[in-house]
Amino acid sequence: MMGMMGMVATAGETTTGFGHGKVILLGEHAVVYGHPALAAGIRAGVRAHVSPGSGSLSAPGWELEARIGDDSLPGQAVQDLCDALRIDGATLDVWLEAEIPARAGLGSSAAMAVAVARAVGARTDANESDVLAAAMAAEMVFHRTPSGIDAAAASRGRLGAFTKQGGWTDVPLPTSFDLCIGISGEPHDTGALVSGVATLRTSTPVADKLIHAMGELARAGTEALSSGDVPALARLFDMAHGLLAGVGVSTAVLDDMVHTARAAGALGAKLTGAGGGGAVIAIAGDHADEVLRKWRSKGYYGFVTTIGHD
Ligand code: MEV
Repeated sequence: MMGMMGMVATAGETTTGFGHGKVILLGEHAVVYGHPALAAGIRAGVRAHVSPGSGSLSAPGWELEARIGDDSLPGQAVQDLCDALRIDGATLDVWLEAEIPARAGLGSSAAMAVAVARAVGARTDANESDVLAAAMAAEMVFHRTPSGIDAAAASRGRLGAFTKQGGWTDVPLPTSFDLCIGISGEPHDTGALVSGVATLRTSTPVADKLIHAMGELARAGTEALSSGDVPALARLFDMAHGLLAGVGVSTAVLDDMVHTARAAGALGAKLTGAGGGGAVIAIAGDHADEVLRKWRSKGYYGFVTTIGHD
């Protein structure tokens, strides 16, 4: 039988799969309501190793020890993923090598879901769309109503525009650019933040105009990047951060990280992903080292990743 890797692994073999971490450049939250978003899979991610076993699930880097099918979110997520691929999770052991922090706004759950789905899928005759559907089953356990952008970025690993209706479209990038990523250290709950925005839309319908504008910024960002205009993208970051703060998903720490990046010379900075903690991103050109240094002086960890690396 042919599987996604070409051949189905034999029962005794260990199979591996990789899922990229992601950054949402523009359009988070708006994407939940059908507006476009712009995202990129980053180099760092999660590698899953799946072997014959008895249902153990471990990720030492995240201090995660669970059982497939237990009542933890990862245990449930991997169970649903295995069910979607019609394989009994109790007959497998899953071991995860994580290069990105968990619950930090970098798509750790989607990276894990895609990595495990690829590794489990290699034991079946699943194709890439079966694997993505299985990863989405896991994402639904973590985030209840995910738009699908995180799983799409985790599987594509590059820059793309995404809508709920149309899915992922690669965005060609004439020139690569560096992005500073800062980790707030505040864990967040994506599902709760998405529900918070939904509640705001009901109580204060004008909030929908901000959400619409976020989608417009994503559209403008896609155009800017298609023509290689990175400074224009940076200006859109600043606008998007204001809108995201307006719908209540920023925090004092995220605002401080964004202002610190700008003061260190960044051309633009914003929170990325669901907010409520998690991560920020900044375009800093020649000032990237200065941004990382200023974040570090305030106790925030940061690193630089290149978008358009392939
Ligand atoms: C989370 O990375 C992005 C959100 O837009 C939620 C989603 O799209 O599922 C906040």
